[in-house]
Order: sequence, then structure tokens, then C-alpha cells
Amino acid sequence: MISMSFRYLVSSFSLLLCFGFIASDEFNCPPLPPLARPAQSVHELRPQDIKVVMTLGDSVTAAFAAMGRQDGIKDLYEFRGISWFIGGDPNAQTIFSFLRHYTPNIIGGSLGSHFVELCYGPICPPDQYRPKQDVFNAAQSGAMVPNLKKHEFTYLYEQLTLNPSVNMRDDWKLLSILIGFNDLCIGCSGDVPYITADDFETNLRSVIEEVRSKIPKVFVNLVEIFNMSMIYEKSKTMPHCEDIHRLLPIECLCVFLEGKIGDDTRRDIDNYAAKYNERLRKLAKEYSEKNYQDFAVVVQPGIRDGTAKNTPIDFMSDVDCFHPSLVAHQAFAKVIWNNLLTPAAQKTSNFDFKAPFVCPTNATLIYTN
Ligand SMILES: *[C@@H]1O[C@H](CO)[C@@H](O)[C@H](O)[C@H]1NC(C)=O
Ligand SMILES: *[C@@H]1O[C@H](CO)[C@@H](O)[C@H](O)[C@H]1NC(C)=O
Repeated sequence: MISMSFRYLVSSFSLLLCFGFIASDEFNCPPLPPLARPAQSVHELRPQDIKVVMTLGDSVTAAFAAMGRQDGIKDLYEFRGISWFIGGDPNAQTIFSFLRHYTPNIIGGSLGSHFVELCYGPICPPDQYRPKQDVFNAAQSGAMVPNLKKHEFTYLYEQLTLNPSVNMRDDWKLLSILIGFNDLCIGCSGDVPYITADDFETNLRSVIEEVRSKIPKVFVNLVEIFNMSMIYEKSKTMPHCEDIHRLLPIECLCVFLEGKIGDDTRRDIDNYAAKYNERLRKLAKEYSEKNYQDFAVVVQPGIRDGTAKNTPIDFMSDVDCFHPSLVAHQAFAKVIWNNLLTPAAQKTSNFDFKAPFVCPTNATLIYTN
């Protein structure tokens, strides 16, 4: 009883924080004049050019547990409609919705919520997608980098080809990839070795090449990952987290170990994250040197240097004190939106969710360098 009402207090408090954040921080960039002509190359894309949005990724992009404590089984839901990049619910604070301000008939946004679509280590059960809700959000909870090409891309490509609103040849498409957290967690659990940086890179290159060879006109948004030690530090500042990890030691337990072994494990896992990020930058550089005119791979550092201090107070879902909350999804959306509309040399990497939205003028590009 006491713990019930405490939980109620905590969740009402979280709700207040969420609404506070939404109210003070809505996307209200002014509309743009129509384009004089559509982009002739990927290096001159503007927000109004994007017709199709799609993603590959893991539970972060599937928005697992993002709406916090629910009733019973719904604690295990994905809230794809508010997923930071591609959520398509009305009024969602997502990159898909920001783009919809400029292109009302943009497609790909995922909708609503449903039971988790879960991969188990390297195995993703076939046919767990719900295309009416997932649309072009091919992320699967638990996915690792080897799952992207065989499992997620297969779904995405099929949906693209089946959808009569997609003009495969002419539409400009924005694809986001945020992956690596599960590769890190499986490694730090000690059951199997870490995926090496070489394997991480090889897997990612193979899915990117698959995209390039099968889908014309794509801008690939590669998102650098943050240190998982941040989640541990953050959980220390969130009073209801300690109990949850004691009760529910299921996800990435190695990040939450105490004492010297905990510190050593977190140092290892953070070092791997840094290596994976280095490979993302290497891949982006490689593609930049190829200088394709209808395909680009751009790395976004916006959330990379997130720490317990420079991320929103209510960063983790109160379901598991691990997955990003609604507030975190909105912060990801803003930070990566700002990265997209900022040239490489000026992009921020310190999770600057308090910065104002970058509002595009008719001279702003979705920058490739
Ligand atoms: C992330 O961890 C690495 C390795 O320990 C460290 O060098 C880096 O400073 C950390 N980044 C942040 C933002 O704390
Ligand atoms: C931006 O819009 C203004 C006014 O409509 C126009 O004069 C100018 O040429 C436009 N610039 C570009 C790059 O389209």
C-alpha cells in the first residue's frame, strides 16, 4: 500500500515533468516557402525534400517502455508513435513530425503502441512486425548490429516496395541508424566476448551497402552512442531506480554492478562504445570520399557526450530505469534535428537539449559535411 502510493506520487511527478518539458519546448519553427526545385543531389537536400522516413535500430528506436509505468502487460509495450526519430502520432515531438511541418504528406512514421518485438541475442523471430503500426520503423528491441541486414533491412525493403505512396526512384529518403547498446550489453555480461570494433564496422558497412544498392536517393543518419556508465550514474540521482534494479535485474545488469568490478566493467563498456563510434565516423568519411550524388552517410554526434549532468532529470523510464523516457525521446529528437541542420564543423556532441531548435531558412541544408 505504502509502496503503491509512493509509486503513484513518483509517476505523477514524472508526468508533471513531461508536461513541463513539452509546454516550454514545442517545435514551432515557421513554415518555409515552397522549393524553387527539388534537390538535384544529396548534397543540397532541404527539409522539404524528404518524402520518406525510415529507421533501423533497437529498443531505443522501438521506444520500449517510453511512456513509463502502465497497467500490467503494457509495461512490456513499445511506444513507437513517439519514438524519437520516426514517431508519427499526432503532436509527437519527433523528427518525423518536425519534417511533417514542411511536407504534410511525408510517410514512414510509426504509430501507437504494441507488445514488444524482441530479438534474443543474435536471433530475431521472423514475422513479429506489425506493419500497420511499425510502418518504416524496422527497429527491434534487443537487436544487435548483425540483425540489421538480414532481419531489419528485409522487413524495411519489403514494406517500401509494397507501399504505393513510395516513389522508389524519385523520392528522397531519410534513414536513421542508432545501434550498439545491445552489442555492448551482451559483451559486458561476460557470456560471450564483445563484438569487436572490426565486426561492428563490417556488419554496419554491409547493411549500408545493401541500402545503397537497393534503394535510390537515401541520406543515412548514423547516430553515435553515449557511454552506458551514464545510465548507472543517472540512476543514482533517480530515487526510484535503485529498487527497480534490485527487483528487475534483467537488462544489462553488468552496467549496474557495484564496487571495483562495476567500475572496471563500466570502463570496458565505455571504451567499446568509443571504439564503435570511431567506426561510425570512419564509415561516414569513407562514403564522403566516394562523393555519391544520390547517397550519403553522415554521422551525428549530438547525444554522444551525454552525462548524468547534461541529460534531462527524468531521462529513464520508470518501468526499468534503463530505457529512455518520453522526455529523453523528445530530447534525442531535438538534439539530432539540430545536428542534421548544422554543418559538420559546428555540430554539438554534448546532448545540448536546452539549446533552441534550429529553424531552417530557405538556405539551410540537411548537411552532408
Ligand atoms: C566515456 O567513456 C570514455 C572511456 O572511459 C571516456 O574517455 C569519456 O570521457 C567518457 N565520455 C563522457 C562524456 O563522459
Ligand atoms: C529564399 O527566399 C527568398 C524570398 O522568397 C528568395 O528571394 C531567395 O532567392 C530564396 N533563396 C533560396 C536559396 O532559395
